[in-house]
Amino acid sequence: MYDKITGIYFSATDNTKKCVSAMVDCFEKEKVLIDITQNKEYERVDFCQSDFVIFGAPVYAGRLPYAARQRFQSFFGHNTKCVIIVSYGNRDYDDALIELKDLAEQQGFIVIGGAALVCKHTYGEIQTTRPDENDILEMKDFISQALNKSDVNDLKIKGNRPYKDGIEKGHFRPITSDECIKCGLCVKKCPFGAIDKDCKSISDKCMSCLRCVKICPKKAKSVNYKEYNDFAKMFSEKLSKRRENEYFL
Ligand SMILES: Cc1cc2nc3c(=O)[nH]c(=O)nc-3n(C[C@H](O)[C@H](O)[C@H](O)COP(=O)(O)O)c2cc1C
Repeated sequence: MYDKITGIYFSATDNTKKCVSAMVDCFEKEKVLIDITQNKEYERVDFCQSDFVIFGAPVYAGRLPYAARQRFQSFFGHNTKCVIIVSYGNRDYDDALIELKDLAEQQGFIVIGGAALVCKHTYGEIQTTRPDENDILEMKDFISQALNKSDVNDLKIKGNRPYKDGIEKGHFRPITSDECIKCGLCVKKCPFGAIDKDCKSISDKCMSCLRCVKICPKKAKSVNYKEYNDFAKMFSEKLSKRRENEYFL
């Protein structure tokens, strides 16, 4: 039915990337992955009816990260079918999935499936092994059903309009130790353009996605301070009960 599948994802700490990649991998013809995490201009791409697209983003405070929302607007469907997925850290996805559905439709896509997928939370120790093998099997089953779906009734997705308020900046600003060699990797990779050339000064644009903590080759970035550690401990206890993935088809 389709000639090509394209996965377009924003993924600061690779959870969403893992999910979208696993789904794209199921397809037997042409596969493309477009990573929109980096803070740069993205060229317009148009898709046709023989394309199939997967949009993926993490949930930030029950919404899409504003940068993901903005960057998805470079992609245009022409009655192109798509599925939308959000990855979230076992708290809730609130209005993020419905927001992504509205956005995909605004961009000319027909949304035929959606999924809210539980992954490791950015903060604390919550669902640290997810997505696990079973999650990946579920995702593959979901995408093969979506690829074979022929009816296009208006898809019902959980969430509310107007959407809940999101956040404009993060709570936990990473700190930089003397191990920093100013290699510039964090500056280049910060999804929000929040890190100054000196690799140390972090502006209000920081969303506390902790990508810099994850990728620093010298482990010079951390959030190892009391306010974060107290929050992480409390949050990990509060969210210890496993949630299951939700699929909409
Ligand atoms: C700023 C911020 C806000 C978050 N808000 C939520 C939330 O509202 N609900 C939730 O369950 N997880 C939340 N998370 C956790 C992420 O959604 C989750 O870890 C996601 O899988 C990260 O995806 P990524 O690795 O592709 O960036 C938040 C994470 C960050 C950094």
